[in-house]
Amino acid sequence: MAEPKTNELMEKIVSLCKRRGFIFQSSEIYGGINGFWDYGPLGAELKRNVRDHWWRAQTQYREDVVGLDASIIMHPKIWEASGHTTTFSDPMVDCKTCKGRFRADQLDSTPCPVKPSKMVCECDGEKTEPRAFNLMFKTYVGPIETVDNVAFLRPETAQAIFAQFQNVNACARQKVPFGICQIGKAFRNEINPRNYTFRSREFEQMEIEFFIRPDEVVQKIAGNVATYADGMDTSAPQANWGWELWHRHWVEERLKWYESIGLGRDTLELYWQEKKELAHYAKACVDIQYKFPFGTQELEGIAARGDFDLTQHQKHSGKSMEYFDEEAKAKYVPHVIEPSAGVDRLVLALLCNAYTEDTVPDEKGKPETRVVMKFHPRIAPIKVGVFPLLKNKPDLVKKAKEVRDLLRPHMTVFYDEAGAIGRRYRRQDEAGTPFGVTIDFDTLGEKPELLDTVTLRDRDTCKQDRVKISDLVPLLLQKVR
Ligand code: GLY
Repeated sequence: MAEPKTNELMEKIVSLCKRRGFIFQSSEIYGGINGFWDYGPLGAELKRNVRDHWWRAQTQYREDVVGLDASIIMHPKIWEASGHTTTFSDPMVDCKTCKGRFRADQLDSTPCPVKPSKMVCECDGEKTEPRAFNLMFKTYVGPIETVDNVAFLRPETAQAIFAQFQNVNACARQKVPFGICQIGKAFRNEINPRNYTFRSREFEQMEIEFFIRPDEVVQKIAGNVATYADGMDTSAPQANWGWELWHRHWVEERLKWYESIGLGRDTLELYWQEKKELAHYAKACVDIQYKFPFGTQELEGIAARGDFDLTQHQKHSGKSMEYFDEEAKAKYVPHVIEPSAGVDRLVLALLCNAYTEDTVPDEKGKPETRVVMKFHPRIAPIKVGVFPLLKNKPDLVKKAKEVRDLLRPHMTVFYDEAGAIGRRYRRQDEAGTPFGVTIDFDTLGEKPELLDTVTLRDRDTCKQDRVKISDLVPLLLQKVR
């Protein structure tokens, strides 16, 4: 039977990612290690751009969010308080024949196109009863491997934010409502890592804990708590917003952010968790999902978590997590809205979204198929390619290197003089470079009126405009920022 089309597309994306240096299998020379991935030169830039753009959106463009960069290993009591020690587990069964261990709820899943054999039990032998398997990676702090020294790699960045709430509150000159954001690695010993990098054992999160007043306090201060109505503008926070409107605000904010990096609303779906699916402390949770070739899957969860986490840490640490609200003249444990996004799955969504095959004329005008990664210029790994028309003309090369050096302080530049110009364009199309600057004989003044101008090529339309070298920096900066 022919492979489904979605798998063919994923295979093409996976192959391009390796060939062009976006993503490699971790430890590939030793056969790889399941659930771990490395980012190559282009992938590292792409991922960095995603992180930087997110960080700036929170800490630079908002006045009410500040950053944190906490350690990966924390006191194990953190995970007792958060509930991860007892409840962060998947139901597992062991196969009595092949001795494999599988997630009880995924025994019939579709095989992953990248590692098909690791997904399902192929021998179909008798299974044990399901048992809970904790997903946290365990280690020991110090040289002695005793129970007292057990620690865990964090399974989410969120808990450090709760644990540091009072320290940040004391120094950040913020008033509730305000948020703390963090980007960092998290680890989950997934039973079946799958769908390429989508579900990995080591991954990165971008999380915001946005602390708000409990609804009773809003009622006391504002005299009412606003309720959400369809089509309501939730962009400008108001004093009478309770958790419901703050939650809506963050859903909109995050959708706008995805749009700003090229994931339009038509590529995303919102999934509102049903009451019975919610964690016991959550009042609402929305998943922002992307339509991956292997199915529509979550990029980010936005949960209204009430005061569950701070209250738990207050109980377990014995330290107050209360906040004194001057306006309310009252103390309370703040409630929280949590937009929690996965960096790696977002990078995968951006790769899938960018992958395009189209037909363009080659140098002789004959139609040829090209692969082009249509990244939004903001997140594209390389912003501009710089090309002397010919490699063997020292004046062209000298001028091209001057243009490269002019652009370098402002953005990532790839200088390429090797091969026919059409081939060089194609290489950058595949890398997703949105702009190409070519230095030709007119740049050198062959037509005097064109002296010190270059052609600026657009990756998606292949259209070329003639622009002055002195205009390049402002022109490109406006497009890539
Ligand atoms: N903090 C929420 C999560 O990691 O899924």
